[in-house]
Amino acid sequence: QTVKLAEYRPSDFLIPRVALDIVLDPHATRVRATLCVEPNPEGRADAPLALDGDDLVLVSVALDGEPLAADAFAADADGLVIHRPPRRPFTLAVETRLDPTANTKLMGLYRSRGVYCTQCEPEGFRRITYFLDRPDVLSVYETRIEAALAEAPTLLGNGNLVESGPVGDGSRHYALWHDPHPKPTYLFALVGGALAKIARPFVTRSGRTVEIAVHVEPGKEGRAGYALDALERSMRWDEDVFGREYDLDVFNIVAVSDFNMGAMENKGLNIFNDKYVLASPETATDTDYANIEAIVAHEYFHNWTGNRITCRDWFQLCLKEGLTVYRDQEFSSDMRSRPVHRIAEARALRLRQFAEDAGPLAHPVRPSEYREINNFYTATVYEKGAEVIRMLRTLVGEQAFAAGMDLYFERCDNSAATVEDFLACFAETSGRDLSQFARWYAQAGTPRLAVTGQWDEAAKTYRLDFAQSIPPTPGQPTKEPAVIPVRLGLVAEDGREIPAASPRLREDGVFVLEKASDSLVLENVSVRPVPSVLRGFSAPVRVSRDLSEADLLTLLRYDTDPFNRWQSAQTVAIRVLTRAASDRSLAEEAVRAYADALATFLDAEAESDPAFAALVLALPGEPDIAQDIGSDVDPDAIHEARERMRAIVGTHLSSRLTALRERLASDAPYSPDAASAGRRALRNGALDLIAAADPQAGIEAAAAQYEAADNMTDRLAALGVAAHTPPSPGREELIGAFRSRFDGEPLVLDKWFALQATMAEAGTLERVERLMADPAFSLSNPNRVGALIGAFALSNPTQFHRPDGAGYAFVADKVATLDRTNPQTAARILTAFNTWRTMEPGRRAKAEATLRSIADRAGLSRDVADIVGRTLG
Ligand code: ARG
Ligand code: ZN
Repeated sequence: QTVKLAEYRPSDFLIPRVALDIVLDPHATRVRATLCVEPNPEGRADAPLALDGDDLVLVSVALDGEPLAADAFAADADGLVIHRPPRRPFTLAVETRLDPTANTKLMGLYRSRGVYCTQCEPEGFRRITYFLDRPDVLSVYETRIEAALAEAPTLLGNGNLVESGPVGDGSRHYALWHDPHPKPTYLFALVGGALAKIARPFVTRSGRTVEIAVHVEPGKEGRAGYALDALERSMRWDEDVFGREYDLDVFNIVAVSDFNMGAMENKGLNIFNDKYVLASPETATDTDYANIEAIVAHEYFHNWTGNRITCRDWFQLCLKEGLTVYRDQEFSSDMRSRPVHRIAEARALRLRQFAEDAGPLAHPVRPSEYREINNFYTATVYEKGAEVIRMLRTLVGEQAFAAGMDLYFERCDNSAATVEDFLACFAETSGRDLSQFARWYAQAGTPRLAVTGQWDEAAKTYRLDFAQSIPPTPGQPTKEPAVIPVRLGLVAEDGREIPAASPRLREDGVFVLEKASDSLVLENVSVRPVPSVLRGFSAPVRVSRDLSEADLLTLLRYDTDPFNRWQSAQTVAIRVLTRAASDRSLAEEAVRAYADALATFLDAEAESDPAFAALVLALPGEPDIAQDIGSDVDPDAIHEARERMRAIVGTHLSSRLTALRERLASDAPYSPDAASAGRRALRNGALDLIAAADPQAGIEAAAAQYEAADNMTDRLAALGVAAHTPPSPGREELIGAFRSRFDGEPLVLDKWFALQATMAEAGTLERVERLMADPAFSLSNPNRVGALIGAFALSNPTQFHRPDGAGYAFVADKVATLDRTNPQTAARILTAFNTWRTMEPGRRAKAEATLRSIADRAGLSRDVADIVGRTLG
């Protein structure tokens, strides 16, 4: 059934305190829960107490110490109802039993390589014990965990450790944890297992000493240091930038190998997918290091935006996720290069969120209904949610934003809040009416912004005309105009910045578009300007500009805004590629002009900012081109056009790129810092183009780099060039050599699986099928599944969308298999079909038939049924 935002009702009961006694056992874990229950004054007075459950086995239930009569309650695997509970505070003691080893959904309490761990967000706690499993019921937890000493020498819970010691003859032991901060069920966690830790003290700014620790599989401690370091930097940053201090005596991070998502912000006990913890130069890429830093920060920042202030209901998910992504983006921008990070954010948003917003799964940042909440941990809620916060800051200004955050932390602390509560703080500190801005939370779809300009030489004015429209999305045929902050400036053809002046333009260069269309007249413009609009990607919209390619290349060369410099090069390339993909002929002249501009740019600036240069040098991806085309897409035509353009650009720049690679080479030992990573990114981007121009030369250079590399970034980039540059003799040997070298390194082999799953050539599907038989592959591990099947479905446009439909059939078959053990993972892979309606008719028909065959299967999980249903529309 469908859950609706409009139907929210407060809980009829509250559970201010709970004591849990959990005796861990591989197959028969026993959970004794003692709940202090009281009627909620805001709830209904005559309601039964209906506790959530999922797959539970009830052992016993007692009320105020008395076993309940059989007719006083009803219990099954999915719930426990007390028919006539007292209208006063009472205690309910419930004992349940569960099998963590059989828990393949990885929700609730499960085992990952022998380590007991939990994932309770959003609705996993009900798989541990019967409870009011909703985020607006906040409880203080006391958790006793008991286990065999040999099996689980480490026992971790939320909050602070109260006591620990042996049980009985000493073959078992226990730990008692107390979390003083009231929290909803989804933030509960426990861990038990044989783990090694690295730890250090952190002194908060008010002088509290916290032990911060990272726990990993024994033997992997050497790969945990970067995560611990990132944690320390995150804690300091949140004090400095948001004034937020940590509030417990310990902060633990645990890495586990089987995890559905990236990581989880459980109070004082973050649990991570080990791929976002473990890193060494030999096994992790620069991207891995950056992801670890960002995700460690993200989960830590949730301590305030998510935990201290949580969500009233799951419709408010963006309240914690969008805001926390915004915070982790700011953190990464401060740790690394802000402009480079901004470009990366925009790229990621367009690749995933714009695609989501343009397809059948489009939904608002705050959805108004859902069938399965797990399907709403989306790019829209997270990434577009972060963009909305960023726009809010732009709109109300730095000061009102900071004051609004302070007010929010003060006013909503220890509560389960809503988006309205949040926005009210900023309305108050800015004195602005934010009701139109709130449409960003309610309307799905990416706004389109058309900008045209006209220079009046005689009047010395430049008029900019803006028009916005938001396309229809499922359930929302018509839209109201959004508030779009447009940061802009004018660039003269000789490169000078022309001061843009108008009473309607804010001093910081922001024009706030509120109507469907509007004009802005800039004064004192005495030379012909090139307008630079949406600087810094000031709003998550799709822009069309009436600029010539020559104007765009002027911006690439001179714009003071790095984002628009990059964007201008991308726009030129996208235009060329979109045309080439439709008429199968590449405008060589335009490509040469583009390559000339890149040459000039490289000569002037490549070495001063290699990370930025690497981004400018990279052609738009095939999905970017497909999005731009929008309908009747032929992925093969796009691929072909892009390959030809790469080859021409590579040829044009080849001697420069080779020289640049030499100049950027370094003998220094590997360091993951942003500057070093930027040099590697540019060297590897150059290698890629060299190979596009001259496959033989490229492969030789790649093979040499592969052998000489002292780090995974360079080794994997080299392997990638070799693997993606057919035909090349020795390619399979190199792929095989990598496999042997990293045997026993599952996270590295994931890169090997993904690399092969994304080869854009006939035969890749058969290769993927073969790789499923590799001993390192396993359908029960989400990382392996994501690396092989997920990468094929989500990141290999030509082969997933094979015209014969074999790619679709393969993915559908794997989704059906996975759905029986891990529906969340199955549903995520199924979202690869979200672009099916934009395909050319042949592929569209094949995709639709495949989707129907999935929909017709019996016994689908709610996760998969929801995705397939919405995808078909
Ligand atoms: N709150 C976590 C994070 O963003 C994500 C957990 C999502 N889990 C899930 N099963 N959908 O950091
Ligand atoms: Zn989060």
